[in-house]
Amino acid sequence: MAFDTQNINKQRQNLQDYDEIWVFGYGSLIHKVDFDFLDCQNAHILGYERRFWQGSHDHRGTPENPGRVLTLTPVENARCFGRAFKVEHHIFEHLDHREKNGYLREEIEIYLENGNRVLGLVYIGAPDNAAYLGEATIEDIAAHIARSSGPSGDNKDYVFDLADALREHGEEDEHVFGIEREIFSILSKSSTS
Ligand code: BEZ
Repeated sequence: MAFDTQNINKQRQNLQDYDEIWVFGYGSLIHKVDFDFLDCQNAHILGYERRFWQGSHDHRGTPENPGRVLTLTPVENARCFGRAFKVEHHIFEHLDHREKNGYLREEIEIYLENGNRVLGLVYIGAPDNAAYLGEATIEDIAAHIARSSGPSGDNKDYVFDLADALREHGEEDEHVFGIEREIFSILSKSSTS
């Protein structure tokens, strides 16, 4: 599959079929909200966990040196915290552009904090996308992130901002917090050497 998924995403769902559209954010959409929304709530989805397994050629890395950003991977009985945004249809033009590096929009059941369950959309970078990097150890992921940067800034700030946002919401995520700890350890070693 191509790196740039904007055209594919346009054809995946007919947004007009939805009375209201919710998008589930599990990464930068939790803390970098650069679009208008009609409603926003804490939320979760089931059966997925977030992982730094997706390459970033356009935000936190470059085509020559891709960074590592989030995608979702299926995990039995998992619960993934995030934020759900009710948006107007045209917002997907912005989101499809922002998340164009291999992510496809998928339909997903979103459990809102008000107790309602809605069918919404989520961006997932699946293993068959051209930007996918896949599984690695926490140490290797942290080292990769510590040395990467791109047009949206240092890759490590993506991790720190997300970890801060999760803590503000009282959420634990050992994958994210483990990588954050390891990056701090790499940075402290490099500042003393
Ligand atoms: C998100 O924050 O939901 C998100 C993460 C990666 C790609 C697209 C969206």
